[in-house]
Parts: sequence; structure tokens; C-alpha cells
Amino acid sequence: MDERPIGVFDSGVGGLTVVKEIRAILPTEDIVYFGDTARVPYGNKSIPVIRRFCLEIVNFLETMKVKMIVIACNTASALALDHVRRNTVLPVIGVIDPGVRAALRKAPSVNDREKKIGVIGTRATIKSEAYQKRLKRLDSGCSVFAKPCPLFVPIVEENLSDSIIAEQTLNMYLDEFRSLSLDALILACTHYPLLKKSLDIFFDKKVILIDSAEETALEVAEILKAHRISAPSERNGTDEFYVSDSPESFMLVGSQFLKHPLDKVFLEPVWQRTSEK
Ligand code: DGL
Repeated sequence: MDERPIGVFDSGVGGLTVVKEIRAILPTEDIVYFGDTARVPYGNKSIPVIRRFCLEIVNFLETMKVKMIVIACNTASALALDHVRRNTVLPVIGVIDPGVRAALRKAPSVNDREKKIGVIGTRATIKSEAYQKRLKRLDSGCSVFAKPCPLFVPIVEENLSDSIIAEQTLNMYLDEFRSLSLDALILACTHYPLLKKSLDIFFDKKVILIDSAEETALEVAEILKAHRISAPSERNGTDEFYVSDSPESFMLVGSQFLKHPLDKVFLEPVWQRTSEK
């Protein structure tokens, strides 16, 4: 039994979709979340910059005595997962493998024809081809259709997920996907699970939407069990949130993601910590 918290981080508020799922299936675990709200978005930044940011965050989470690290950000998972693993002794998981495995498992096989999987994410995630390569490695016969949808992040953050703006933006980005008869679509960005309703309407519920957040939470549970580091069962887990800019803004947008008000939000400029070392 291990009462240390699980460390979860994201470029900003979007990783709360992963926190929500972890909390749902692991109610006794403590969670320490870091959102890099001062430096979001990561989706248009370069690999060296994202890797440096990630290590600063990991250093901070280590000082919070976490027992494992979840990179809840798709962009950071795509560009920095191996780099983070090389720089910490803690178990680290990203969101890509869980999402890919779920897509291949859930996409129905129709008359033995190849599976058609769509992937949508930030520019950096799609450009890295992390999802595309992983899908092909696990199922060389599948066809992958990937598309960056950068405007979805601000739409979600502005609480416009169910608006006409979301609908028009979906049409603009995904019109070409309509005729593809996709079997599954991976929502390869922390923010996109909040667009599920609009996506279901767009695809007439004919495409299975793969929410990496749900799948990642299941993988967290597996890792805790495999490493024998689960929290005791007779306790209520707590959540603490750290952000690199304005706790007030995080509380406001974060409550949309978690569907309840957030307390215990603290300011933590992680780069200062690193430069003080
Ligand atoms: N968290 C990022 C992701 O999942 C989206 C926001 C950003 O660009 O930083 O890719």
C-alpha cells in the first residue's frame, strides 16, 4: 500500500479530463495536478522547448513525492514521453498508447476489411506522427487519417463546445472525414472529449469516438496494481492543483471540465524552482 499521490500534468487545464476519469475509477488515490497555464499552448511549440518544460514539471512533481507520473497532454506525450522516462525513476505513462489500443480494440471489424481510424489533435501531435506510427505498428493493415484541429482548444476553453461556432469549425476541419466511413476517431487532445456531443451529431453517431482520458485512467489503475503501489482502500482521495499562472482563471475554466467547483489551486512557477537548483 502506498499513500503517495499520483502526479498528473498537462500544458494547461485540459488534462483535467484525465483527472476526472482517474478520480472516477480510483476514488482512494490522492492526485497532484500541474497545469502549465503560463506557457499553454504546447501544440505549436518545438520539441526541445516542450521537453524542457516537461522536465521542469517532473522535477516539481518529484518534490511533491508522487509515486507515478501521468503525462495527460497529448502533445507532450507525443514529443517528450521517452525523454521524461529517461530522466526519472518513477513509472511514467502518456496518453497515446492507451488511446491507440482502445481504438484498435473498439473499432469493429467489418467483413474482415482493414480498419479505418481517424486521429485529430494539435498541429504538433499530428506532425509528430506518434499516433499514426503506433497504430501502424500494432495493426499494419489499418488505414489512418490524421488531421490537426487547432481551433478546437480555444473553442472548448471559451465554453463554446455546443455552439454554432463549434459546429462550423467541425464542418471546416472534418468535412473530408464524412465520406471516409471511419470505424473510430481518436480524440488525441485533452480538450476534445468536451466536443463529443457535437462530434456525435456531426458523424450521426456512426463513428466510435475514442476518449484517451478514459483509457489512460484504466492504464493508471493497471500500473498501480503491477507496481503494488495502490492506496489503501479505506480512504477518500484528495485533489491538489498547481498552475504556473492565475489560479483564479484555472478555477473558472477547470470547473467546466470537472463539472464541480475547484478548490486547492496554488500558483507554482516551476521554472524558478529549476533555475534555483
Ligand atoms: N493539452 C494539449 C494536448 O493535449 C492541448 C493544448 C495545447 O496545445 O497545449 O495536446
